[in-house]
Amino acid sequence: MTYKKFFDDCKKCNKCRLRENATQVVPGDGNVKAKIMFIGEAPGENEDKEGVPFCGAAGKFLDELLTTIGVKRSEVYITNMVRCRPPGNRDPLDDEIQACKVWTNGLIKIINPKVFVLLGRFAMAKFFPNFKISKVHGKAYKKWGRIFVIQYHPAVALYNGSFRETLVNDMKVLRSILDGDKLVINNLDEKGKEIVKLLRKKRKGEQKEIQLKIGL
Ligand code: URA
Repeated sequence: MTYKKFFDDCKKCNKCRLRENATQVVPGDGNVKAKIMFIGEAPGENEDKEGVPFCGAAGKFLDELLTTIGVKRSEVYITNMVRCRPPGNRDPLDDEIQACKVWTNGLIKIINPKVFVLLGRFAMAKFFPNFKISKVHGKAYKKWGRIFVIQYHPAVALYNGSFRETLVNDMKVLRSILDGDKLVINNLDEKGKEIVKLLRKKRKGEQKEIQLKIGL
């Protein structure tokens, strides 16, 4: 399927209640050949009007963050976990994320990025449901042969200025990866295998301890 056909089909989506109040579907934006895909949460007011993800205040800050590491927006692809604005900018609900999964997964397949930047806990939960963002932000993980960088959502810095510095620092991990620094990447492929083996043998109480050891 071509990107254009996919995009046009997505624009017509009516799979969940979010479409009822949204002006339009916001599939995603950016370089279709990008090696890096950013995944956010949901369109806000500006995105709903313009049809482009991250074009409002959070998007401006994301642009700034990209500038600090010398990456242009035209070099990346950006999408969200849901593609219609939730009423009043509430959090997307589980069933809405599930309904939108066909588009999220479809985009991943078409763009086929090597590196994902997961912006906020909803994007993180798609790939790492047991992670806590307060523990893993600014870290990178290798899984399924891809690299996942976990960041707080840029909007948190708009509500709480003290997060600005954290986000700026966390973004440096992406720069290091692009510069070929493998040491910043936690290899979950290997650890994952080890853990599965251990979990088979251990009782429930001990499982917790294993999870803590790898910083979940
Ligand atoms: N926040 C998001 O998560 N996505 C957008 O597109 C805009 C703001």
